[in-house]
Amino acid sequence: MKILVLNGPNLNLLGTREPDKYGNQTLQDIENYLREEAKKTDIEIDFYQSNIEGELVNKIQQAKGIYDGIVMNPAAYTHTSVAIRDAILAVSIPTVEIHLSNIHTREDFRKISLTAPACIGQITGFGANSYKLGLTALTDYLRNN
Ligand code: DQA
Repeated sequence: MKILVLNGPNLNLLGTREPDKYGNQTLQDIENYLREEAKKTDIEIDFYQSNIEGELVNKIQQAKGIYDGIVMNPAAYTHTSVAIRDAILAVSIPTVEIHLSNIHTREDFRKISLTAPACIGQITGFGANSYKLGLTALTDYLRNN
């Protein structure tokens, strides 16, 4: 099973970026942890982060035929990107949206996700563990569907 973990803008700054909201772990820490978890199973994971919306769209388009599923934290693009939503719908790859913070308890503009309706589900508010929970939810879904 091949999974793409896709990260949007400013997540490259995790660890130093607003640690009260996003925790102290870097994206590399999260990647290392998920790789260790994946080793225990038959899951292969690739990671991709970009601050640029079009690059994320390109990566989603290129994922067709390569990846069985996507775990995605679109970061700020969650709340603005019709293009990312359309890309997920276009490739029809089962995708789980995840967030470190609970977007539903924050500013009103963060409560709306344009991308979640294109996904099989959303996990939000469990810090770095949201990635692990998202991966488990996605791989369980893929095994059962
Ligand atoms: C985030 C929540 C978004 O609102 C924010 O723009 C981010 C991170 C999260 O993981 O909590 O960059 O996606």
